[in-house]
Formats: sequence, C-alpha cells, structure tokens
Amino acid sequence: MNQRTCLSVILAAGEGTRMKSALPKVLHQIAGLPMVAHVVKAAEAAGAGDLALVIGHGAEEMRKAAQKFAPEAEAFVQEKRLGTAHAVLAARAAISKGYDDILVMFGDTPLIDPDALTAARLKLAQGAAVVVIGFRTANPTGYGRLIEKGGKLVAIREEKDCSDEEKKITFCNGGLMAIAGSQAMKLLDAVGNRNAKGEYYLTDIVELASNQGLDVVATEASFENALGINNRAELAQAEGIWQARRRHEAMLSGVTLIAPETVYFSHDTEIGADTIVEPNVWFGPGVKIAGGARIHAFSHIEGAIVAAHCDVGPFARLRPGADLKQKAKVGNFCEVKQAVIEEGAKVNHLTYIGDARVGAGANIGAGTITCNYDGYLKHFTDIGEGAFVGSNSSLVAPVTIGKGGYIASGSVITESVPDDALAFGRARQKTIPGKGKELRERFASAAVAKKR
Ligand code: UD1
Ligand code: MG
Repeated sequence: MNQRTCLSVILAAGEGTRMKSALPKVLHQIAGLPMVAHVVKAAEAAGAGDLALVIGHGAEEMRKAAQKFAPEAEAFVQEKRLGTAHAVLAARAAISKGYDDILVMFGDTPLIDPDALTAARLKLAQGAAVVVIGFRTANPTGYGRLIEKGGKLVAIREEKDCSDEEKKITFCNGGLMAIAGSQAMKLLDAVGNRNAKGEYYLTDIVELASNQGLDVVATEASFENALGINNRAELAQAEGIWQARRRHEAMLSGVTLIAPETVYFSHDTEIGADTIVEPNVWFGPGVKIAGGARIHAFSHIEGAIVAAHCDVGPFARLRPGADLKQKAKVGNFCEVKQAVIEEGAKVNHLTYIGDARVGAGANIGAGTITCNYDGYLKHFTDIGEGAFVGSNSSLVAPVTIGKGGYIASGSVITESVPDDALAFGRARQKTIPGKGKELRERFASAAVAKKR
C-alpha cells in the first residue's frame, strides 16, 4: 500500500462564526498547534504525500499560517461556500493530477486518528471506490446518517433531508472520506444541489457510486475522530481529549505524572523515562526533558531543554532558550531565559537569569538578578565554573565572573571579576556601639510628646 500515491484535501473555508473570533476558526489551537495543523499531521502520518488546503474565509491569514505548519501544501480558494463537494472541487487541479487515493478531511475536526485514515486507505487498496469513516453515537443530531441496505452502504442522508425513520439511525458520517483517485472527479462532478440546504454535498458521492455498482464501504472509528469544533466549548472539549491521550501516552512511556489531569502538554513536548512530573505543571511549545529529571509542582516551562537528572521548581519558570545541563537545579520562584545552566549548577531561590551562562557547579544565591536589559539592548552575563554569587546580588551585564569567582552578598557588580577573585560591590558596614539604644530613646520621647 505504501506504493499508492495519496492526496489529502483539507477543507477549511468555513467562517466559524460561532467561535466569535477575529481569527479563522481552524487556526485556533489545541496543545499549542492550530487545529488544522493537527489534521495535516494526521494526513501525513497516514501517508498523504501531497496536501491541498481549501481556504476561503481569512484566506490571507490562512496562507501565512500554512507556511509554518504545511509549507508544501497547495492552497485553493473556494470563493463561495456552496457545500463540501463544491469545496473539494476547488482543489480540482490537484485532484486531477491523478492519485491512487484521495483523503478528504475537515480542518475543524482535529482529533482524527491516523490509524482510521490508514484503515480507509487499505479499503481503497482492496478495491473500494468510496470509504466513509463512520462512528456511532446515542445523540446523532446534526450528523449525516449512514443508510445501509443488505449490509452495504448505499447513501448518506444529511439531518435536514432525513425521514423520521432515518433520523433514528445512530451510525453517522464522521466527515472523513477516502475516494479512489480514478473515480473522484467523475463522482464529484455528478453531485447536484437538490437538497434542503441547496448545497453541493460531498456525501452524495456515496449514493452516486453505489448506483453505479461501485464498491462503497463504511468503516467505524471512535467518536473523537468526528468531533468537529464549532465553538470554544467544543475547542476546550477537544483540548481535554487531546491532553488525556497525551498524558496516557507519557505515562505508558515511563513518565510519572502524580496528578495527570493537572499536567498540560504541548503538541511537541518530549519527556524521557523516569522523569517525575508533580501536579500543576504547564509545558508550552518547544520543550525537551530528558530522563530521570524531576519537575516540581506549579512550574511553567516553554522553549526549554532540560537534561537528565535536573531538578526544576516548584514554581520555576523556564522561558525560551533555557538550557539546563545534567543535574542542574533551578528552584522556587526562579526565572531562566536564554541561558545555559551548566552541569550541576544551582539557581535555587528567587532569581532571574537571562542572557547568561552559569558555569558548571556554580552556586547562585537567593535573589540574584542578571540585569540584562538597558532599555534598548540585551547584554550577556558569563558566570564561570564553580563561581559563588552571594545572595541579593545584581550582575549588571555585560559582565563576566571568572572561574571560582566569589561575589559578596548584596553586591552590584558592574565590572568583570577575574578567576578566583572576591568582589564586593556594596558599602562597607559601619557599627556604632550604643547608638541603637540612643535612637530608640529619642524616638520614644518624641512619640510621647506628640500624644500630649
Ligand atoms: C458534514 C457532513 C455530515 C457529517 C458532518 C461531520 C456533508 C454534506 N455533511 O456536515 O454528513 O456528519 O460533517 O461533522 O459533508 N466547508 C468548506 N466549504 C463549504 C462547506 C464546508 O470549506 O462550502 C468545510 C467547513 O469549513 C468544515 C467542513 O467543510 O471544515 C464541514 O462543513 P460543515 O458545514 O461543518 O458540515 P456539517 O454540516 O458539519
Ligand atoms: Mg461541521
């Protein structure tokens, strides 16, 4: 089957008015990735070598976004929204190039499982002309019903065109179809619009093919495969299903999630085996965590790399460019951005490390801040191997602290510190015997005088 060529036509011209959004519906994200990009990924996973994206509403924004998630896809504009068959025909030029298999998918149905697509393609390989991916539901309202006769699929009837008897059918059209490339144009061109909505229905090709004696097959997939997103409540529902799948996958791959329902992954999060993730952790896009690490509760991590056996959080924020090498520690209320924390270095409490390198084994005291920004440009702080930065120090970049450098607490460091040097960047302490007592007495009598 791998030899068979395949085009996926993804319909995404709809307006999505119920999203009440300036953003085209299919660009709303699930797990940090536009929902239509999930559809693209599924198509690719099922072996679709070419992609045709049918766009309409928000076409320019769609083209721009597609550059990122499907740079090789060819975009086709459906000028008027006259139905799903009409939308597929917008990609006529691509379809008529001649493919073995055509997969029609909806951009707003993001949870499609590539296995369901592969199963449908297999039916085409076995000689079917049209394969419909159906699902069963106790509440079929709104879906096209699969009409079978003698165990064969003979038609799909849209809700509005159904008889009362047909409305009782619970086997529904999930919206995904696989069509033999050799039959596709002929069938699509034969679709008319004599129905309750006056639209050209893709679903009509089932009856057309069946009447011609072609082999039409319904396969069955789970409900999620057909979950179409029309509003933000459904978007959240899809996010929930996606997250549940991903958490399950993570746990089966050897990651401990203490409270899985509170951990949020992105589409590309990678976590190694034997890493433990405590409750309420958020992974934004671009995160890679190696094995044997511990991510403590309430950490927020995006665009970051965490090597094996690191310790992060609780309440840590790793921002893009954070790169923690083996056994590094970033503790509570620390923020790390665009910085390498070398092996075994410790940034344990209340600290900001931005545009910096913290050398291996260095210890950064509580409340240390790299002052990386002068209001115009960002500057770099380089902290050498084994350095010790005392608590509550400000390191004003650009600045270098040499290997084994030692910074006194409360310093403001504006000049580079050589290897093994001790730097004080604060006023020397002055102690006056008895002066504390004297002050207290003076203030107390002033307060008494005021009350009189
Ligand atoms: C469609 C199916 C229905 C199925 C249901 C599953 C048809 C006629 N009906 O109905 O059998 O049960 O999906 O969710 O196919 N689109 C365009 N241009 C158009 C029309 C639609 O690009 O002119 C796109 C939409 O943006 C959407 C997809 O096609 O992504 C499906 O259209 P929609 O209007 O949601 O079809 P349903 O009524 O849900
Ligand atoms: Mg729909």
